[in-house]
Amino acid sequence: MIQKAKGTKDILADESYRWQLIEEAAQETFENFGLKEIRIPTFEYTELFERGVGDTTDVVQKEMYTFNDKAGRSITLRPEGTAGIVRAYIENGLFSKPSPYKVWYKMPMFRYENVQKGRYREFNQIGCEIIGTSSYLADIEAINIANTFLKKISIEDVKLKINSIGCPTCRKKYQEVLKEFVNENINMYCSTCKSRLDKNPMRILDCKEEKCKKLNKGAPVILDYLCEECKEHFENVKNMLKQLNINYDVDSGIVRGLDYYTKTVFEFISQKDGYTVLAGGRYDGLIKELDGADTPAVGFAAGEERLLSLIEEKQPEDFKTELYIATMEQNQMKKALEIAETLRKYIVVETDICSRSFNAQLKYANKIGAENLLVIGEEEIKNNTAKIKNMKTGEEKTVELNADSIFDSIIEFE
Ligand code: HAM
Repeated sequence: MIQKAKGTKDILADESYRWQLIEEAAQETFENFGLKEIRIPTFEYTELFERGVGDTTDVVQKEMYTFNDKAGRSITLRPEGTAGIVRAYIENGLFSKPSPYKVWYKMPMFRYENVQKGRYREFNQIGCEIIGTSSYLADIEAINIANTFLKKISIEDVKLKINSIGCPTCRKKYQEVLKEFVNENINMYCSTCKSRLDKNPMRILDCKEEKCKKLNKGAPVILDYLCEECKEHFENVKNMLKQLNINYDVDSGIVRGLDYYTKTVFEFISQKDGYTVLAGGRYDGLIKELDGADTPAVGFAAGEERLLSLIEEKQPEDFKTELYIATMEQNQMKKALEIAETLRKYIVVETDICSRSFNAQLKYANKIGAENLLVIGEEEIKNNTAKIKNMKTGEEKTVELNADSIFDSIIEFE
């Protein structure tokens, strides 16, 4: 038997409604903040991620699904959404739209990761990008959207952690002292960290190897090296969060695994299992890095699988079929379909599509938990009346064989 590829999953018909609930809540939240949905390709030229996400990151070095297409071009399945959206922003001249350009998305992402609970190779992100403003108010807006969305889907047991990782100016000084710190024990670090020392020492702080994590204890923190502008920006963010009563902890350990971040970075961490369910930050250098104009931006993405694992027990039931119309013989199907067509504007209606016997139709209606059953036979058509039964209470009524009368009695049953 052929099995699904490692790190992927089937979202079966019984569970897709949970995903829809989250996605509907996301859409409503984003739209209430004035964001519109963007959809971009699943794959891009590899160079976009090498330059955008950074060629010393784990994502680019170890986790990308990269292949040559038939014309020999290097293609990568998107491991994240920000680089692609920035590419679309530049390529489509979206800087000529009212600024800031604010979009949201829900898209599958692909990373060749070590598969474990909460970590997949194909996973779904819901996120947003606000492009074109350097104001700390945009950082606040992103965090506020995230917070509102999590509340809307009843995820309360999360902690917001924030940090500032400065700008290229303050980072220069910081990287020198960090290099000195790491250099003292460089022989004990893993080979990846060793290779990152000269090119991108901050990535060493993001290493997942236990020994490197231990060696990194006591490393200098960027917060102590912020330039005046970055310091003020971070102070403004913290003050406004306080004013909005959004609780946070400053965590200097949050450096993020993608290279494009500047200034504010943040993560919402589940208190239940320690997973980061939503993460993001400012990326003021990315648009220029990808050959656009110097344009500041901020955004975040949430892992849908991780959100779902936190609300699994809390969610309401899947929708039910509210009416099943059973027919004694197939020549009553025309009437059944006519009634179903009108009623489907208001409720969920199913009819026989298997040419089943009357008894087999009743069995099926029972199995799917249909709430009401309408039976149509020759007599019913002749008299233009039929019996409708509430399957839960067993209560029965005679109704006229038209959509209005049937709908009224379903409402009366409730
Ligand atoms: P990220 O931190 O790489 O950021 O991913 C965001 C979220 O996606 C994570 O916090 C986590 O919930 C989820 N996630 C990441 N990898 C996996 C995985 N292998 N399996 C399941 N869930 C996963 C970004 O991707 C940035 N593009 C976010 C952003 C948008 N920053 C600014 N704008």
